[in-house]
Amino acid sequence: MFGWLRRQPRRVAPELVRPLPRAGHERDFANQPAERALMTAATAFAAVLLAAAPGGGVARLFGLAVVIGGVLFLAGRFFVKFEAEAVGPLRRVASLSALILLFLVGARAHRETGQPSLLLLPVPTVAVLLSLLLAPRFAVAFVGLLLTLVAMVAWGTPELLSALLVLSAGSLAGALYSFRVRRASRLIGIGAIVGVTQILVLAAITLVRDELPANAELLRRLLIALAHGLASGFLVLALLPAFEKALDRLSDLTLLEFSNQNDQPVLRRLQVEAPGTHHHSFLVGTLSEAAAESIGANGLLCRVGSYFHDIGKMNKPEYFSENSAEARARHGVLSPDMSKLIITAHPKDGIELAQLHKIPRPIQSFIEEHHGTTAVEYFWRIAVKQRSEEEVPKDSYRYAGPRPQSKETAIVMVADSVEAASRTLQEPTPARLEQLVDDIVRMKMDDRQLDECQLTMRELTRIKEAFVQVLGGIHHRRPAYPRDPTGRLSVPLAEVELVPEIESGRAPERVMTSPTPRPPATLPPNPS
Ligand SMILES: [Fe+2]
Ligand SMILES: [Fe+2]
Repeated sequence: MFGWLRRQPRRVAPELVRPLPRAGHERDFANQPAERALMTAATAFAAVLLAAAPGGGVARLFGLAVVIGGVLFLAGRFFVKFEAEAVGPLRRVASLSALILLFLVGARAHRETGQPSLLLLPVPTVAVLLSLLLAPRFAVAFVGLLLTLVAMVAWGTPELLSALLVLSAGSLAGALYSFRVRRASRLIGIGAIVGVTQILVLAAITLVRDELPANAELLRRLLIALAHGLASGFLVLALLPAFEKALDRLSDLTLLEFSNQNDQPVLRRLQVEAPGTHHHSFLVGTLSEAAAESIGANGLLCRVGSYFHDIGKMNKPEYFSENSAEARARHGVLSPDMSKLIITAHPKDGIELAQLHKIPRPIQSFIEEHHGTTAVEYFWRIAVKQRSEEEVPKDSYRYAGPRPQSKETAIVMVADSVEAASRTLQEPTPARLEQLVDDIVRMKMDDRQLDECQLTMRELTRIKEAFVQVLGGIHHRRPAYPRDPTGRLSVPLAEVELVPEIESGRAPERVMTSPTPRPPATLPPNPS
């Protein structure tokens, strides 16, 4: 009769219901339930203390604990489930928790002394910063959590409701326009948008309310709302470096600084000391940026990461074939073990160089992950020929890794191999390029190098298409220029650009060096 109450056997293996922690992500908020619970409880405890009023009674304290603890618990679950990419490392969540507590201290000060005005809490600044560094959707969700907790602490203060509405509107407007900001001046514009939104919402709330405050008070609050919004653009600019460090992310503004070859001494050195590697890195950047853009990943991060990925080769540039035609001969006189040591050292050397030049962590991850744990097959085969496979296990010829941990580093890993391999093609036709890209992606997958990077099969297909398209442009060949019997070009050098038209039988168009304005066909009628 009560059979339906009996526990039903589990039909699905638990690891299919709850994703297993991925290797290399042990320090992630999502993969550490114990640390996650501890951090949430500590934040909730501090928030309850800040919200509690002296002599408020146990019942009030209990109510606060339920609301604040419940909201933080649910927010934590929500972020783990839907924003795992944004919350990421535990360190980042600790920084965000500290930020929440800082705002709650401000709200408590307001409740006790009336200062600072709640309208001055820089919530829109936080929204813009999180939107720039993590994701606009996460920024909005985080602001919702922050304002809920601020409301619990500043409970009962007269300007609370209007401040919450104004700050949430300002934050929404800020987050909405803080996507792909690549010029600092745009931040000032975003500040203006926040300011105008805040003043409009505050004015509208004043109209909605029954009693109007005194003119001077109204004016003061409107001015605060506007000035705070305008100032938030400058505040974002000032706080950006600190937030980038705390959240371990780079904004597009900083990435652009690092993409400027002339401003980066290490890239200038690469250009002089290992020109082949420099050129290769530039092409990898072009390939990976296009591929990342095609799946909505961070193309600029890929490009900048590519510029730096092989800087470690500068220690021994002559042992890498892109820099020297004698590289193979140099390795010929070395044992395969020694060659392997030289080759596999370049990610580690690169990290040392990057630390010396203060290259940020997110760019360093491209240096250490771009080879993952792949093996140096060429020298391993030589070693196996000289000894035997039992004596030389393949694992002893692998890079130290780790394997790519993000979509961006995985894209650069594939682009790196694709760029190098495409140079070996005699006739790089589109079909051959497609085959090559396909083979390389399959090899990386078979070698389990793409297991930790969250790329889907659908995204890999798009990435492959983007690679083929860009490679087609890189390896496109012009038709051969006509030459005379002695082998010299049979057209004047100045007209070489026009040769395809000559060959197709069309007369070359002359390029005008100094534009001379044509006289008008008919004279305008004389007004007199
Ligand atoms: Fe490399
Ligand atoms: Fe490379």
